[in-house]
Amino acid sequence: MILTLGPLSISPPLFLAPLAGYTNLPFRLLLRERGGLGLCTTDLVNARSLLEQHPKALELIRTAPDDHPLAVQLYGAKPEELRDAAVWLEQQGYNAVDINMGCPVRKVCRTGSGSALLDNIAAAQRLVSVVVNAVRIPVTCKVRLGTPELARALDDAGAAGITVHGRTRQQGFAGNVNLAGIRALAQAVRRIPVIGNGDITTPQDAKRMLDETGCAGIAIGRGAFYNPWIFQQTARYLATGETLPEPDFEQRVAFMARHLDRMIELYGEFHACRQFRKVALAYIKPFGPVTEFRRRVVQLESRSEFSEILDAYRQWREPRLKSSSAAANPR
Ligand SMILES: Cc1cc2nc3c(=O)[nH]c(=O)nc-3n(C[C@H](O)[C@H](O)[C@H](O)COP(=O)(O)O)c2cc1C
Repeated sequence: MILTLGPLSISPPLFLAPLAGYTNLPFRLLLRERGGLGLCTTDLVNARSLLEQHPKALELIRTAPDDHPLAVQLYGAKPEELRDAAVWLEQQGYNAVDINMGCPVRKVCRTGSGSALLDNIAAAQRLVSVVVNAVRIPVTCKVRLGTPELARALDDAGAAGITVHGRTRQQGFAGNVNLAGIRALAQAVRRIPVIGNGDITTPQDAKRMLDETGCAGIAIGRGAFYNPWIFQQTARYLATGETLPEPDFEQRVAFMARHLDRMIELYGEFHACRQFRKVALAYIKPFGPVTEFRRRVVQLESRSEFSEILDAYRQWREPRLKSSSAAANPR
């Protein structure tokens, strides 16, 4: 299966959805190693901060030779700022630009960007056409549910693809993803691929998203932490119908530990351990009982402490596994 975003061919059509603060360069590299991942997108980054070369903005777009294809996700309300940021990103060799139109955070919406654009079709369309006319790399958009008119307008403006998170802005992250709503949006768009997103945690979920919505691809965010093998498994499942074995607890823990190790290499032990406190919590859903791990990891200070936490957690977890029905993968 191949999905085309303008000049870019993505195969398989499986995307990593950005989770700001989580889907960082080390995570992306580790996921790409497993295979099955078509395209990654950076955290959302303010277009003006990028143009002003703020160190924090540059950190958000940090990449490496193995980290491609990569889209940088921009937010902003001023077309000229987004245009100039996109031109600069193209010069730097990034493969695509994604414009955020889904973020409900007040700091972002207040300026007329993020999900504020969902209500302002004319502004969103102008923004996209100004950026599209300035670069050759594909310009995609990330939107929320219930916006078929907007989607059509973005298609007309020259967007190369649209990712839709299947919840409305009002829903935030509550309630279920609405596949019928995603389908309505996909049908409204005439020319370009639509990528369905939301609550995909198994290869079967991915197939259901594709089958029931008619989307050309899917994007997975939180599910990539619940199961870092999900892209590999989904690619295989879509191609052959084969279900690969689930990773066991120790494989998941080893992946998580490598994530921390790579973060330490990149950011130094002090900063990496602090950032990893919340990142570690993104992994724990399939671990079964986690109280003890959670209690200690949120105060993580060093790599050696992480090993101690894991050893203590294994001992704490073992007897509790037997009595816990919450363990999705109790090996
Ligand atoms: C902590 C967190 C951070 C997120 N950051 C971004 C972001 O920077 N840009 C964006 O477009 N979406 C962001 N999202 C939304 C996700 O990309 C995705 O649309 C949503 O989580 C639903 O997909 P999932 O169920 O596969 O996680 C974020 C979501 C979470 C939970």
